Amino acid sequence: MTDDFQSRVTAAMANPENMGELPNADAIGTVGNADCGDMLRVWVKFKEEGGRKVIDRASFQSFGCETAIAAASLAMELIKGKTPAEALAMRGEEFAKDLGPLPPTKVHCTSLVEGALREALAPVGNAPAPVTQTTAAPPSLMDTFNKPEQKKAGVKVVFLKPGQAQ
Ligand code: FES
Repeated sequence: MTDDFQSRVTAAMANPENMGELPNADAIGTVGNADCGDMLRVWVKFKEEGGRKVIDRASFQSFGCETAIAAASLAMELIKGKTPAEALAMRGEEFAKDLGPLPPTKVHCTSLVEGALREALAPVGNAPAPVTQTTAAPPSLMDTFNKPEQKKAGVKVVFLKPGQAQ
């Protein structure tokens, strides 16, 4: 890992944006990487803009490495104002471009971000579905892993294969 890359990750980690649960999210995606055990959840809220459904806000929580957290922080900003389909077309390396070239061992970290967004956005990415609102606050990532009854509530964790964002 280069000092330059590490300093950019450290800078992004020093002030991560959009971290934490997003109340009343319209879409939630959770993924885990079976190899490193890291996990990431994203919350997405939509709005109508110019007759299009676009991403108003997005946030994340992670049991992940610094690179995954830094890439998630950058990604949540990059997808604002995009339609679900536009955000789905983005790849992990685009989310992390401000971090510079990724060491090969860190490429999968951005796939975690891409995978979580796919889980959240795929159900709405191909159709101009109306904006929906959840009435109950979704469980936090910690809730999910600490309370078995939360898992039964339909939370789906998808484990990615190396180099694959599903
Ligand atoms: Fe697993 Fe970064 S080392 S997500």
